[in-house]
Amino acid sequence: MIIAVDGPTASGKGTIARALAAHYGLPHLDTGLLYRAVGRQVQLNGGDANNPDDALAATTFDESLLGDPELRSEAAGGLASRVSAHPAVRSALFERQRTFATQQGGAVLDGRDIGTVIAPEAEVKLFVTASVDARSQRRYREMQERGEDVTLETIAEDLRRRDERDRTRPAAPLVPAPDACIIDTSALGRDEAIAAAIEVVDQISGS
Ligand code: DC
Repeated sequence: MIIAVDGPTASGKGTIARALAAHYGLPHLDTGLLYRAVGRQVQLNGGDANNPDDALAATTFDESLLGDPELRSEAAGGLASRVSAHPAVRSALFERQRTFATQQGGAVLDGRDIGTVIAPEAEVKLFVTASVDARSQRRYREMQERGEDVTLETIAEDLRRRDERDRTRPAAPLVPAPDACIIDTSALGRDEAIAAAIEVVDQISGS
């Protein structure tokens, strides 16, 4: 079974995807981390994330970069959003994601275009979303725990900008697949959101 979990930043899609993977005993890929690694590598190369050639050159990042805690920062998220708008970067990362999705036994992948581009044949497609307010509050708490010095207003502005960029880019924009099940986590706690997702998967897979 392939489970595609798409949605905007800080919607809770990563938490849900990890929980589903543990619940159903499936391997999980956080595809946002790949784009974050490309963004970080552009920076390490001294390049410009808006430049398609610089961004493409950074897709050959070393695997060890995926373990860099810096990838979780707001800055890395912003760079990821920029490099992910380049079609050549998306193509360069396609095969790796596709191979993961189609492995024997199934997989859970979370991102922006899993149900629309990477695995349109996925049995289960969830689109996890939440209001900008709810997502900003969550991201703010996360950043405080990380010791990052940012204000709630800056985070909300950044989320809006990133949503806009992810939704309006011509290459694989952030849109729910027509057959995706929408889960709005604005008013849900972590466990409630996970339970809602498991209920949907059980219903669709008939288990
Ligand atoms: O999910 P995230 O915040 O880690 O993603 C960071 C950026 O990467 C996001 O702004 C858009 C991009 N991304 C993408 O374009 N396609 C994906 N499948 C995953 C992430």
